Amino acid sequence: MNLIYTLGTLSDAQQLYKLGLQSYGVFEKTLGDEWQTMKSNLQDLDALQELINKAQTFICKDGESIVGMIFLVPSGNPTNIYSADQCYIRKLGVHPEYIGKGIAYNLVDMCITAAKANGEQTIALHTSEFMDAARHIYENIGFSIEKEIPPIFGKRYWLYTLTL
Ligand SMILES: CC(C)(COP(=O)(O)OP(=O)(O)OC[C@H]1O[C@@H](n2cnc3c(N)ncnc32)[C@H](O)[C@@H]1OP(=O)(O)O)[C@@H](O)C(=O)NCCC(=O)NCCS
Repeated sequence: MNLIYTLGTLSDAQQLYKLGLQSYGVFEKTLGDEWQTMKSNLQDLDALQELINKAQTFICKDGESIVGMIFLVPSGNPTNIYSADQCYIRKLGVHPEYIGKGIAYNLVDMCITAAKANGEQTIALHTSEFMDAARHIYENIGFSIEKEIPPIFGKRYWLYTLTL
């Protein structure tokens, strides 16, 4: 295994699409009926391509296979969750066969380094009660809960931030 961290581009969209379904597929049982909603979000290729266009995409590859991904959306892209002055992390995912190798820690670090280089003040993300590993990673890195946001997929979610 030879893991390489690099930038992803629009030409990686198909592989990133597959990786989204593979990595978040671990939540199928936990989410029950709501898994269909998460799945159809993950199957929205237009939304994924839009994300790649507006974000910096960081990937981890093993040979030609993309086994980890994360997206850093710059500030100035507010949503109902994020304010205009926050940059934010989206769609962290690692292939189930590659978990526990520090890939997620490395990808989050790449986002923090890039956000600092971009002159961002705050980096944000949202995550949920059922994403135990992700919450552990973010809290260990120094992110803290800013507020609870309305439930998604019937689950509790929080906005986390880290001051850069
Ligand atoms: C969350 C995810 C990205 C982690 O990827 P990964 O490459 O395995 O993560 P790393 O190897 O860098 O780190 C794993 C950490 O989580 C911890 N962990 C694993 N399972 C855990 C659990 N059930 N509860 C708490 N911590 C857990 C590990 O102990 C390790 O932390 P440590 O090194 O401080 O001990 C991956 O599991 C995934 O894709 N999950 C599904 C999608 C998802 O939840 N995305 C996050 C959306 S916010």
